[in-house]
Amino acid sequence: MKITVRDIIEKKKKGEKITALTAYDYAFAGVLDQAGLDIILVGDSVGTTVLGYDSTVPVTMRDMLHHTKAVARAVKNSLLVADMPFGSYENSTERALRGARRLLKEGGAQAIKVEGAGGIVEIVKAMTASGVPVMGHLGLTPQTAEQLGGYKVQGKLRNEAEKIWQDARHLEGAGIFSLVLECVPYQLAKFITGRLKVPTIGIGAGPYCDGQILVLNDLLGLEKRLRPKFVRRYADLGRETERAVASFKKDVLKGSYPSLKESFAMDENELPGEA
Ligand code: KIV
Repeated sequence: MKITVRDIIEKKKKGEKITALTAYDYAFAGVLDQAGLDIILVGDSVGTTVLGYDSTVPVTMRDMLHHTKAVARAVKNSLLVADMPFGSYENSTERALRGARRLLKEGGAQAIKVEGAGGIVEIVKAMTASGVPVMGHLGLTPQTAEQLGGYKVQGKLRNEAEKIWQDARHLEGAGIFSLVLECVPYQLAKFITGRLKVPTIGIGAGPYCDGQILVLNDLLGLEKRLRPKFVRRYADLGRETERAVASFKKDVLKGSYPSLKESFAMDENELPGEA
């Protein structure tokens, strides 16, 4: 049965861990859904993992819709969340609502995710009031990583920790159903998790969050450029793919692929006559 945002909140109440991963296409989304993950996030990390950008900033609403639709075609059970891309929600409630509704109605997502707090808290409030389920995202927020001094741990100092905590409270007040905490010390994540009613989902935020999320390409060993400390690689598909491609190339060059067994046959009397 399809998981709902209510089920995600209930899991925290029952003390059950929440499992989440990103997906960007039909094939992998099907595998994740079948594996029984609670949440599949079509992250704007699609920009770096699939589209080859250096950051998530260039990702557009069109990109997000394209990938969300592909993932939605495969997802039967997990809760499907899609990221609002940079520039689509920060300055105008109307624009944010329009984009969020497109991700739900056209994309097939059940909820959307936005990064940060401050000025967007009122926008989040308007979204949740109009029936759009919203997931928050604090700590390292990749869309504004430049402002945060790059991809580094956030909230180590008292004033930073205080700000993240206050932002979390404000987002909860605005009606979010869960909160991603990225790259914060585990003590701060534990503090926030213990005080919020909605579940926290950690990525580089230690073991005390209510759930965990990773970028699928990191977990599968498909990301060569960055290897953050918190990533546990469960497979090395990068190397496995290299090996498979090299074998294919070798077999084609020496003529051993395809064999006749891997070819279609016909009655040779049916061959065309010589001209
Ligand atoms: O875009 C993404 O993949 C994310 C995760 C890091 C949570 O926001």
